[in-house]
Amino acid sequence: MLAIMGAMDEEIELLLADLQDREDLGFPGVTLHRGVLDGVPVLLTRGGIGKVNAALTTAYLLMQGASRVVFTGVAGGVHPDLKVGDIVVSTDCVQHDVDVTALGYDAGTVPGESPSWAADPALRAAAVTAARGVEGVHVVEGRVASGDQFIASASGVARLREAFGAACAEMEGAAVAQVCAKAGVPFVVIRSVSDTADTGANVDYREFMPRVARHAKQVVRGMLAGL
Ligand code: ADE
Repeated sequence: MLAIMGAMDEEIELLLADLQDREDLGFPGVTLHRGVLDGVPVLLTRGGIGKVNAALTTAYLLMQGASRVVFTGVAGGVHPDLKVGDIVVSTDCVQHDVDVTALGYDAGTVPGESPSWAADPALRAAAVTAARGVEGVHVVEGRVASGDQFIASASGVARLREAFGAACAEMEGAAVAQVCAKAGVPFVVIRSVSDTADTGANVDYREFMPRVARHAKQVVRGMLAGL
């Protein structure tokens, strides 16, 4: 079954409002629903903010039979072409806040794990096609950098560009990716840009987040038609 996941209410509420035959599943700390969206059976969840919540929720989704995972939400744009409202479709995900460099590992690498996790080509293609159908937005395919940090500085943006070649910064994608990779389950992350992760990102985020979350939701909706 297709699973659709967001971190915050604003990222899934528009989809939840249209979920048919809705069944609410109770897992500790997570809101998870089963139902039908545009004729497609789905699991839909708001997993909470950060990598731990994302990993936990992904595990619950897999236990409920998720065979594909689409993450939808907002991010800080890091790629220089990105403006508020634009869309990033993940090529792969990294954990930018993992640092075991003192033991000789590359920045972002969890010892024994892959340095990044690649998104599924078919889900990526479906997301890009759907994203191009959203009026007035620029679509960037690129690396999603995840960490338990809200990035709000020029130096933070420069580090994510230089050390990781990131397109955007957010707080969940790589955790979803890591869990999906362990289970062999395809995933893609779709993020609309709420801020550009530099000075003032906190102000832009508060102003634009609810509005631009709609763009990512439009992409998911567009994907459903083609899945
Ligand atoms: N989500 C939206 N904007 C973000 C930022 N600047 N840093 C991390 N996560 C975000």
